Amino acid sequence: DASDIEKGTYPHYMLKEIDEQPLVMRKIIDKYRNAVGGLTVDADIVNAVNAADRIYIIAAGTSYHAGLIGKQFIENWAKIPVEVHIASEFSYNMPLLSENPLFIFISQSGETADSRSVLVQIKELGHKALTITNVQGSTLSREADYTLLLHAGPEIAVASTKAYTAQLAVLSILAAVAAHGKGLSLEFDLTKELGIVANAMEVLCDQKEEMEAIAKEYFSTTRNAFFIGRSVDYYVGLEGALKLKEISYIQAEGFAGGELKHGTIALIENGTPIIALATQEHVNLSIRGNVKEVVARGANPCIISMKGLEEEDDRFVLPSIHEQLAPLAAVIPLQLISYYAALHRGCDVDKPRNLAKSVTVE
Ligand code: AGP
Repeated sequence: DASDIEKGTYPHYMLKEIDEQPLVMRKIIDKYRNAVGGLTVDADIVNAVNAADRIYIIAAGTSYHAGLIGKQFIENWAKIPVEVHIASEFSYNMPLLSENPLFIFISQSGETADSRSVLVQIKELGHKALTITNVQGSTLSREADYTLLLHAGPEIAVASTKAYTAQLAVLSILAAVAAHGKGLSLEFDLTKELGIVANAMEVLCDQKEEMEAIAKEYFSTTRNAFFIGRSVDYYVGLEGALKLKEISYIQAEGFAGGELKHGTIALIENGTPIIALATQEHVNLSIRGNVKEVVARGANPCIISMKGLEEEDDRFVLPSIHEQLAPLAAVIPLQLISYYAALHRGCDVDKPRNLAKSVTVE
């Protein structure tokens, strides 16, 4: 049938969509490139971002995880304070808003009901909204003042993969262009660095056998798993855990490395898999300290680090990319490991139980 044709030689949409990520990166760079090779975003959007005294990012699930990293880009580069909220919480427990807020809705589908209900609420209050979505003409796009497109192509698998990295790329571009608009200059060339990310993604997508081996080794029979990291690695860990639980049904949780000792460490048993991310130099020593703490309690560690920070026992080393963009590469092994874990556990990868691709009920 038609869907099989679209899948081509791939057994699942998820695997196809994981593999499309380098291409999507290059497409985004192309779509947001200006005549002189720099990056550009519609001037109205840049003005709206820079007029805001605070940005409120609203999203759900994977898009929320992208928002957490988008906050880092916007705060670090454009120097605008950002809050990131889970849509379904925001509706019922609205924080005290700043005087000139801008709302950014991140939604692959543009149809998520929880996010839409916040959009309706804040429009009634007279605030402006920007939607970052993969679907032109979607509800969240139509009802917001501005739209930025992900250009990721249709995402069919319930587990979001290429939309997440596209969200990160578009958020990075928005932050960089907003910074530039304020006369703040980045210490690196984002176009070039995103190109390096695309190449790294390609290298990672060629290492499927290694990811399959990790999935078999750590997740064949386990009941649970933990993802730890510090700083942005923590946020990538949240996404890795969500991927694993939604398609393989393994109970997986992401934690900030330093928070383990405040309770979660009680769950560590002999052989509990711990996926630890170590891509950030300023927290490298401390995350490795956290790994030692869990290993001392019997955990089975799988350290994924980045070239330049690697140590002898690391299970996998990512190619070196700009540190602040590390999440764009670090998530790929996690996506692939989840895919193979689900596959080997006999789960329906593309259509996990109890889940819909877009959640159109509140
Ligand atoms: C991702 O793998 C999930 N299926 C889910 O969390 C999703 O990201 C969430 O429902 C939000 O969807 P949206 O981006 O279309 O708004």
